Amino acid sequence: MLRASEARDRPYFVELLASAAVHTYLGGPQPRDQLERDLPEVPEQWPGSFVVELDGTMIGQILLRRPAAEGKVDLGYLFLPRVWGFGYAAEACAAALGWLDGVLPGEPVVLVTQSANLPSMRLAARLGFVEVERFRAWDAEQWRGRRR
Ligand SMILES: CC(C)(COP(=O)(O)OP(=O)(O)OC[C@H]1O[C@@H](n2cnc3c(N)ncnc32)[C@H](O)[C@@H]1OP(=O)(O)O)[C@@H](O)C(=O)NCCC(=O)NCCS
Repeated sequence: MLRASEARDRPYFVELLASAAVHTYLGGPQPRDQLERDLPEVPEQWPGSFVVELDGTMIGQILLRRPAAEGKVDLGYLFLPRVWGFGYAAEACAAALGWLDGVLPGEPVVLVTQSANLPSMRLAARLGFVEVERFRAWDAEQWRGRRR
């Protein structure tokens, strides 16, 4: 299920954002004690931020943002390591993109991921993203894909 963030998700956001495994290709995790202290009571409550729930518990987050500089909608995804490898990210991202297609028909969506992040590259391909360019940023090769 995709839904807005709620107060009961806070411990899962702490887990997600403090996870070294989740942030291997995302510039490193945030310190857990800092997150425990600073995260709002309802974290990540903004339009385009979806909590992914499985059996009543948060397992990940999907982000649909439109950065001012870029102008195009950008897809992001973070899932807890214990649920990797079951196709949940693919199912949830496809549902979020389906929702976007309904509210903004024909809207192009872009995605940037490190090319070394193979699970993310496989997911992007599975979702129908095709390569636009590769570029260097944050000390690593980045892959930009686009989906119509
Ligand atoms: C990127 C990320 C979401 C991918 O998670 P994932 O679980 O591998 O992705 P999917 O939901 O597409 O699952 C695919 C895997 O599940 C397997 N699978 C099992 N059952 C499946 C099913 N019913 N349907 C689809 N895939 C299934 C697939 O074989 C595949 O495994 P493989 O990649 O080893 O071939 C996850 O690695 C993650 O959260 N990483 C940290 C955050 C990050 O780097 N985000 C990217 C920056 S935006």
